[in-house]
Amino acid sequence: MRRNIPVQDEHHQKARLFFALWPAPALRRQLHALAMQTQEEAGGRAMRAETLHMTLLFLGEVPLAHIAKLEQAADAVEFEAFAFALEQLSCWRHNQIVYAAPAQAVPPLQALAQQLRTAADRAGIDYDKRDFTPHVTLLRKEQHPPERRALVLPPWQVQEFALVESVTAGPGVRYRSLRRWACQG
Ligand code: 2AM
Repeated sequence: MRRNIPVQDEHHQKARLFFALWPAPALRRQLHALAMQTQEEAGGRAMRAETLHMTLLFLGEVPLAHIAKLEQAADAVEFEAFAFALEQLSCWRHNQIVYAAPAQAVPPLQALAQQLRTAADRAGIDYDKRDFTPHVTLLRKEQHPPERRALVLPPWQVQEFALVESVTAGPGVRYRSLRRWACQG
């Protein structure tokens, strides 16, 4: 299993972390094409292809010393491979985000997100307690909300999840997987 070392924040010795799913390359390409196309209508800033992901649990600033405990708790997460579809394009006006999302609840996705909460609880690590709302951010700072519409995209085949670090890189942000966990079957 691949393991990276967090980029050290010398002042705080913390890393900005979240658990996430990465799309497979074909789906990533289509999501990026959709983001670029939607940008023409909605304005704002399309996410770069390599940053497209679905957050399962946002942890925020985690002390580096606590990461091993978090990883250990995540070792207990068990899930089988599953698939779901991103079936609609929508927008949140309050934070100017345009996103792709499933049209209905996806029970195995909810269950995986819930297991990660349990893992974070077990590790004594705080996280964003708001309800899990599965989505992939395509555009930030939209200027004109696009029409909500149906999407036809390849299914998202979930076989692993990742612990991801958000690293500020100049004006932007870079996401890097610290570690990945595979499904059991
Ligand atoms: P967003 O795309 O809807 O902004 C990295 O910031 C990832 O964590 C993004 O997918 C972001 O969701 C998500 N996230 C969830 N809660 C967050 C929070 N309180 N602050 C920053 N990012 C958050």
